[in-house]
Amino acid sequence: MGLTKESFGTDFIWGVSTAAYQIEGGYLKDGKGFSIWDDFVRKSGKIAKGEHADVACDFYHRYDDDLKLMRYMNIRHHRFSISWSRIFPVGRGEINQAGIDYYNRLIDHMLSLGITPWVTLYHWDLPSSLEIKGGWTNRDVVEWFGDYVACCVRNFGDRVKHWMVLNEPMVFTGAGYFLGIHAPGRRGLNSFLAATHHAALAQAHGARIIKSLQPESIVGTTFSTSHIEPFSAKDRDVQAAKRADALLNRLFVEPLLGLGYPTEEIKTLRKMEKYMQADDEKNLKFDMDFVGVQNYTREIVAHSYFIPYLRAKLVTAQDRQVPVTTMNWEVYTESLYHILKKYSAYENMPPLMVTENGASFPDEVTRGKVHDPARTQYLQDAITHMQRAKDDGVDVRGYFVWTFLDNFEWAEGYDPRFGLVHVDFETQRRIIKDSGKWYADFLRE
Ligand code: NOJ
Repeated sequence: MGLTKESFGTDFIWGVSTAAYQIEGGYLKDGKGFSIWDDFVRKSGKIAKGEHADVACDFYHRYDDDLKLMRYMNIRHHRFSISWSRIFPVGRGEINQAGIDYYNRLIDHMLSLGITPWVTLYHWDLPSSLEIKGGWTNRDVVEWFGDYVACCVRNFGDRVKHWMVLNEPMVFTGAGYFLGIHAPGRRGLNSFLAATHHAALAQAHGARIIKSLQPESIVGTTFSTSHIEPFSAKDRDVQAAKRADALLNRLFVEPLLGLGYPTEEIKTLRKMEKYMQADDEKNLKFDMDFVGVQNYTREIVAHSYFIPYLRAKLVTAQDRQVPVTTMNWEVYTESLYHILKKYSAYENMPPLMVTENGASFPDEVTRGKVHDPARTQYLQDAITHMQRAKDDGVDVRGYFVWTFLDNFEWAEGYDPRFGLVHVDFETQRRIIKDSGKWYADFLRE
């Protein structure tokens, strides 16, 4: 029997995910302020080929047609993010009405097409004015974020019922505040620990605010995940894998569940104490309505003395000579199965949603068509693994493909194409890829 959406039940949510900075463009349109990504792309050597997302997919101007295309593809749920600096150009204080108007138009259009909006409140584009004050390393960010969240709920909550507080906090703190390879490009343990703690506080604080203003809302937050395996059965590799797992899969979800930070595995995290205040432990916890897991691949981990604090390194897919995507990530869809099982094994874990899953492959346009069998296969395999997890009793309630349109893939620029729809960035022409046609077919009612 082929894969059918019916076997997941009629309530199962199927959709696509996008993010403001990656698709909107219009980077200074209608009073929008600069975000850390607008700044970061302007620094030399940060983004592959010096690319930026000033225009990207020009979704800011083309959302009308793009959403019609989405509906044409039978997609009924769209997870997208709100750009904080469209609403508050300098992060706080005066509201930019034009920004509110834009998201009102977007939401209304989605609803008129029968597409349910799922809003991510923070997908990495912090207003630059707040970064000048320390960004995520400044504890005040928790309140700034809370005010912005409240403003979104007050303005959109009459029509938006589904919210996600943060997108992949581990990535924006790790890549942005420790490694310096994402905006704002800061490095070092102290900025990482501070950013981590404040993001963990913000994920619960934001959720609390949504619920207080809109008790009937459905609130979640999302995490990056990778199934981790040790490189060998040697104890030092096994221990290294445990540390990597604590960092990549547990750092943010455990405080949310009331379990605190995984300091047993990563001793360095004890230094987080420096940033903790009375009641923080309690405030990190929040009972979400769902938890979003985002998964693309697995990681194989070996012990290494050269990696500070973690003493663990990822054995690359190239070194292992396994098939990879354009991101150089191993094609390994079974990771989703393991992650769903792992997350559902926590006591008190709310229902899970797969809020991102997908793959980038080098697509080609031939006579107006994009044949991308590898992506279709990837999606089918991942969905099959999700089905397996569900059959094992995991409470997973939805699945969103990353992503609708080819877009700006952060430090990698436009090279990795994850879309179900191909975008020609010169002409802004859209072509539904074969994978998009497959998904449309799969979703047909
Ligand atoms: C996770 C991020 O949320 C998204 O912005 C990114 O494009 C995809 N992964 C692919 O890397």
